[in-house]
Amino acid sequence: MTAVFAAPASDAIPITFATRSSWEADKAALSAAAQRFADSSGFTAKPGQFLGLPGPDGSLAQVLFGLDEASAPARDPFRAGQLPTLLPEGIYRFANAPDARLAALAFALGSYRFGRYRKTDTPNARLVPPDGIDAAEIGRISDAAALARDLINTPANDMGPDELAAAAAALAERFGATYACIVGEDLRAKNFPLIHAVGRASSRAPRLIDLTWGDAAHPRVTLVGKGVCFDTGGLDLKPSGSMLLMKKDMGGAANVLALAQMVMDAGLKVRLRVLIPAVENAVAGNAFRPLDVFPSRKGPTVEIGNTDAEGRLVLADALALADEDKPDLLIDLGTLTGAARVALGPDLPPFYTNDDALADDLSRSAREENDPLWRLPLWPAYDKWLDSKVADINNAPSNGFAGSITCALFLQRFVEPTTRWLHVDIYGWTPTAKPGRPEGGECQAARAIFHLLSQRYG
Ligand code: BES
Ligand code: MN
Ligand code: ZN
Repeated sequence: MTAVFAAPASDAIPITFATRSSWEADKAALSAAAQRFADSSGFTAKPGQFLGLPGPDGSLAQVLFGLDEASAPARDPFRAGQLPTLLPEGIYRFANAPDARLAALAFALGSYRFGRYRKTDTPNARLVPPDGIDAAEIGRISDAAALARDLINTPANDMGPDELAAAAAALAERFGATYACIVGEDLRAKNFPLIHAVGRASSRAPRLIDLTWGDAAHPRVTLVGKGVCFDTGGLDLKPSGSMLLMKKDMGGAANVLALAQMVMDAGLKVRLRVLIPAVENAVAGNAFRPLDVFPSRKGPTVEIGNTDAEGRLVLADALALADEDKPDLLIDLGTLTGAARVALGPDLPPFYTNDDALADDLSRSAREENDPLWRLPLWPAYDKWLDSKVADINNAPSNGFAGSITCALFLQRFVEPTTRWLHVDIYGWTPTAKPGRPEGGECQAARAIFHLLSQRYG
């Protein structure tokens, strides 16, 4: 279980949550001295307000923390995720929590720091899990979230296709999954022309990672993640401002690995397969070019309208392979378009599916798990924008409209219409720190999808 949780201890320091409207009643339960201390310190339970109360000997005896009103439309569900940053080292427990599971999850997610390159002030407040919650499940989820964050935060010089594959291999090893990988020229020989074309200009060979786990008799769930370890844009080079964050362009891969870890750790009754096309979209003399035409694994020829629309290319070949063994559910995640951010911002990834029941279940799971997702349509009338003058399809419509939708429509061409398919266009990054979400790589969509899979295959 995650290191954030501690065994029950009689001297764990209680944390009392209050909102502005509940504070007077909550205060009445405190000792007279504690009430005076809180009043004279100006504590009014504003959201995020924190106060440590001394005991008779002057040591920290109790903590007060302000939450958003439950009715506040813009309340931050992860407010308790600020606590690990505020609390000194010690063992704590919740004296009262309106939603103990959510507060414990926020606490666990807020304890993360990226510490690979220097000693960080990693929070060392530990929490006795509140009664009645599944602490093992919270630990499973927050550990997997930390994996996604670590993979994304690690810069591209230390997280190339090879290192991403090593992370997948380590995960396979830990859970007894089988692991395979097709590397470099073998991609061409084994018919993954698009993965090869995108990744060939890098000195770090492109590859297709393939992990399988679980009872072969269980329903097949296949996860595909965009693993572009760095996206320069290729010959359609990104300007420096747009390139700056592109170490995170393997955020889809990081999140399918996190999701796979949750699924295997929980022992869901599925036959799980994880496919990650891992490449670097680099610039060199042998780079693929605008207006090049390539065959694809599934068959249609693809004209390159823009070498910066590389994610959909590598996913197309991986989705085609995924589809070949007719999964019960096919899910892909990727940091695919800037247009998704323009439409919905960094915290609300759009998703697309050809199954309305799945869409409803996922929307509910996303709400319940506070891992928000928003459905956008696979709008059929825009499909013709993908037409090419010389090939079966072009990877980048020239009109620039509805970029996240046209990307989803591109991917749809590589999935059989009968396959139950879900595509999520994630951002994978928290631009400015929020409670429970330090700035940097983010676990996005994985918790919501895990919730859905737990309900369907638990
Ligand atoms: N990795 C980018 C998308 C991206 C950019 C995600 C910024 C998050 C933040 C993707 O490969 C890309 O470059 N997409 C292009 C597509 C276009 C050329 C059709 C885009 O969104 O501009
Ligand atoms: Mn790109
Ligand atoms: Zn990209």
